[in-house]
Amino acid sequence: MVNKLISAAALLVLSVGVLAAESAMQATASMSELMTRVIQPTSDAVFYVSRFPPEDDAAWRQMENMTLMLAESANLLLMPGYTQGSEQWLRDTLLMRDAAVAAWEAAQARDLDALMDLNGALYESCESCHNATR
Ligand code: HEC
Repeated sequence: MVNKLISAAALLVLSVGVLAAESAMQATASMSELMTRVIQPTSDAVFYVSRFPPEDDAAWRQMENMTLMLAESANLLLMPGYTQGSEQWLRDTLLMRDAAVAAWEAAQARDLDALMDLNGALYESCESCHNATR
């Protein structure tokens, strides 16, 4: 009985927390701006990595920054104001997130080959969503 009450209370606290977080989230820009100002420049860092490979520590740090921003922007695509809410949207966003998280890990490992190998998967996530939505 007491256990049940405790879990009911925990569930209540959790749902209030989720509701508060949802209403606090607000898109800052348009979808088009998120694409051209955040997702495009950060993904370009990955797409052009073989042409402009990071050559010193500062450049690798910059690659880390870009790939982390790209990975986190996948989460933005899931928030109210940006998401279109379909299964396809979710699937393509998770594709983008997986590729970007792998790129963030490759950047931290200073692994140029891994970054080059991720190009295809990242490109595929952009194309798949664009084909379905634009
Ligand atoms: C989950 C869906 C989704 C994913 C993933 C996605 N996009 Fe987009 N993208 C859109 C939508 C929707 C638009 C149209 C935005 C508008 O014009 O309102 C768009 C538009 C764009 C535009 C044109 C913006 C403009 O107004 O000129 C660029 C550039 C772009 N995306 C780049 C990318 C890149 C690069 C990736 C992958 C790294 C990517 N997008 C991944 C949904 C997505």
